[in-house]
Order: sequence, then C-alpha cells, then structure tokens
Amino acid sequence: MTAPQPLAPGEIGTWAAPGRVNLIGEHLDYVGGPVMPIALDLRTTVKVRRRDDGRVRVWSGISDRSVEFGADTTPGDVKGWARYVAGTVWALAQSGHRTGGADLVVSSDVPLGAGLSSSAALECGVAVALAGAEGWEIDPITLALTCQRGENEYVGAPTGSMDQLASLCGEKGHALMIETAPTPPSVRAVPAHWVEDGYALVVVDTQAKHSLATGEYGVRRAQTEELGELLGVDRLASAPPDAVLKVDDPVLKARLRHVITETQRVRSAARALSSRDWAQFGQLMSASHASLRDDYEVSAPELDLTVETAMENGALGARMTGGGFGGSAIALVEADRVEAVGEAVAAAFARVDFTAPRTFVVAPADGATRLS
Ligand code: GLA
Repeated sequence: MTAPQPLAPGEIGTWAAPGRVNLIGEHLDYVGGPVMPIALDLRTTVKVRRRDDGRVRVWSGISDRSVEFGADTTPGDVKGWARYVAGTVWALAQSGHRTGGADLVVSSDVPLGAGLSSSAALECGVAVALAGAEGWEIDPITLALTCQRGENEYVGAPTGSMDQLASLCGEKGHALMIETAPTPPSVRAVPAHWVEDGYALVVVDTQAKHSLATGEYGVRRAQTEELGELLGVDRLASAPPDAVLKVDDPVLKARLRHVITETQRVRSAARALSSRDWAQFGQLMSASHASLRDDYEVSAPELDLTVETAMENGALGARMTGGGFGGSAIALVEADRVEAVGEAVAAAFARVDFTAPRTFVVAPADGATRLS
C-alpha cells in the first residue's frame, strides 16, 4: 500500500465523521463488555488547510468566533466546544503525531447534546482531517482510542471507546459488534437487514439535554471500579452471574446486575440480528431499557415516556441510547408505523408539557471518510 499523500501547505481537503446510535450494550464499554452501535448518516464535516507555523485555528457554526491554539497545546489551554478539537490535537501529538499547523472549518448536522455522539463526530472528523492533511497512516481502531484519550484526559469526560469506534469503523448496512476488551478492542461488521424486512429504526431526540463531562456518568464509572475491586475482577462485564450474590450494598448490586444482564442481552441480540429475528431483537431492546432505568438508573422521564409510548403504539422494542440522563431513545417499528409512533410520542410529550421531541429514521451508515 502506498503511503497517503499529505496536502501541500495551503491546499484544502474535506473529511467527515458520523454520529452514532447504540443498538444495545449500554454502559458496557468502560467495563470491558460488548456493545453494538451503528454509525449514522448524520455527520460532522471538517475542511482542513495545512499551515506550517505550528498553530491550529478552528471555525465552526457553533460560535461566530474562531479559536486559535498551538499544536503543542496541553490540557486546560482551551475551553468550550473547541476543547474537543484541541483534545484531539493533543492526543495525536501524545501518540507521536504532532501537526505542523492547520486551519479547520467545522460544520455538523449531528444534533448537539442529543446523545448521538456529536462530540465523538467532532473529534473523529478532526482526527481524520489532520491525519489526511499530514499523510499519517493510522488504523481506525488506534485513531479511535487516540480520540477517546483526548476526550478523557484533555476534555475531562470519562467516556469509553464506543462512540469513536462507531464513528471511525461504521459500515453502511451493518451493525458493529465491538468487544471493548481486551485492548485493543475488536470490531466486526454484521449485516443488519431490518430495512429489507420492512422495519425502521426511529430515533426520538427528546430535547432533554445531557452532559457527560459532569456528574452521574462519572459516578457510574466509579461504582463499577469499586465493584471490580470488591470482586477482584479487571473486567466487570466478565463477572459470572452469581457475583451479584457477593455484593451486599443494594445500589452496587443493582449496578452489577445491569452489567451482567446487559452483557448477556448483547450476546442474544447478536444472534437475533444474524437470524433476522426482529421480535426477539425488540424484546432485548426493551429489557435493556428496563435495566438502564431500574438497575443502572441512567434514564430520564422523557426517555421512559418515549419508550412506553412507542411500545403502546406497536414498536417491537424501544430503549434509551447512549449515556442517558436525557438525549435520545430508539424504537424498532414496522416501516408503515413510523409516522403513527412519532405522532403518539409528540402527543404524549405535549400532554405533560415536555418540549416537543424530534423524530427521524436512521439507517447504518459508513464511518469517517474523505469527501474531497
Ligand atoms: C456515552 C459514552 C460512551 C458509552 C455510553 C454508554 O455515549 O461516550 O463511551 O459509555 O455513554 O453506553
């Protein structure tokens, strides 16, 4: 294979990286468990022009002001939305890939704060654009872990690797079966045929904003670490089912029950996906939601109402997707029921004075790519 050609200074290229929804396997990517996301056809586009003065400047539709920082940026230098960009520049430099400088123009149709990984799309878009501009050859799994490191250590959000892996490794028409442990993770694209079989995957962006950099997400991570120590296991997802009997604290017991049952559900969902058993797949989605609501306690009233309403209106299964505490839910529905489900959810939200949700259909799309 010939090495990728770097851009000449001043030359412009354009790359894009998608957001994701996770079909099943929630809050398992930081306990070494399996997850099953898809990349979306919603993307962040990054136009890059090489500079040779060691400066990075970024413009975006998020703010009317550009942000500039050095290619030798360190955590704490850059605040606000641009810290996701600076974090990626920093993490690439930490892995031996320091950019000589770049102008970046970012635009996105991944909704912000909707639990669809707008931040991973931004990080991965910047990473592939810089790698392309500089002619670096970095495999997508390594690049995903680099972006995750930027988010963890520069931005300070203690997330796992699922979102970046989905954004970089997505394949049109396929779900990704990701084993997040051992390191490096493995990613297998599995054909996903629900569209051919007459079903649609509906996303309901509940408009209840969530943030990962603060609060409860970190608390959940800490609880899983405590459980790992208590049980003497490195990967909590591999704890045997009877490990719950060894935990007395009712909150920790419930957290562990989620991790163990969700891991089993992903394995069953992989079988259901391959055998096109959508009724079974749907049941597993709904069971996953119940576990996230009751045992892991990361749902929100808007997410529960969406799931309940979708099920009452004929969905095969429905669940929150992503970190939770707001954001989006997904539902698997017969293609001709998409509108009815959307209308029912909107009506249910209106009845209790929740902000009107946004409903749309998604299909598995390709991961990050060069556009021009
Ligand atoms: C967020 C994080 C991911 C993952 C999910 C929950 O999206 O960024 O790493 O932990 O929450 O599954």
